[in-house]
Amino acid sequence: MSLTVALSKGKLLTGAEALFRRAGLPFPDGEGRRLVMEAGALRFLFVKDLDVPTYVEYGVADCGIAGRDVLLEAGSDVYEPLDLGFGRCRLAVARPKGSTVDYRRASAVRVASKYPRVATTYFLGHGVSAEVVKLAGSVELAAVLGLADCIVDVVETGRTLEENGLEVVEDVAPSSARLVVNRASYHARRDEVAGLVDALRKAIAA
Ligand code: PRP
Repeated sequence: MSLTVALSKGKLLTGAEALFRRAGLPFPDGEGRRLVMEAGALRFLFVKDLDVPTYVEYGVADCGIAGRDVLLEAGSDVYEPLDLGFGRCRLAVARPKGSTVDYRRASAVRVASKYPRVATTYFLGHGVSAEVVKLAGSVELAAVLGLADCIVDVVETGRTLEENGLEVVEDVAPSSARLVVNRASYHARRDEVAGLVDALRKAIAA
């Protein structure tokens, strides 16, 4: 039986394909809509980025590629043996430029985020009771239009913040693409998993 790899069709797909090809590993061709594709000795599942750790945790996929941002949010019980080095960005708190809300001192603050778990944990860690409003995207708009005092979101180039009049106040966590492995597969399919990890590790180092 081939190893099953969960991937997201989002921002990390290009980096994942480049790394697999550099490592001499099979990767599916084409832009189709099929959600399961075979390539060589591997089977690939294409799912939403936040669902990658879920498919891996439950063992439907033996391994997967997900950003650390997504792993922090999902909190799944998976092995994370390799930082793949691409998809670098950071999770940060941002607010409108010139905002005077001192959320560190405020007794309550409203935060919009695609990462409610990360946001809640971060503010709790700073002793702030945050009301977190979960959004699915375009989170910057929430701070621009006053739905929230600030946002916790991914910042890559900083362009989205800049073009919408926001600025980073604090970094929450750095992120990059990670290889994640199901705990049972890591032991039961040790040789195949080790082969994949080694090939990827060599391609990263090359
Ligand atoms: C992400 C993130 C920011 C943007 C950051 O959004 O939520 O909006 O990228 O990138 P930048 O710093 O290079 O501008 P994404 O493109 O995933 O879309 P979304 O807003 O629908 O989540």
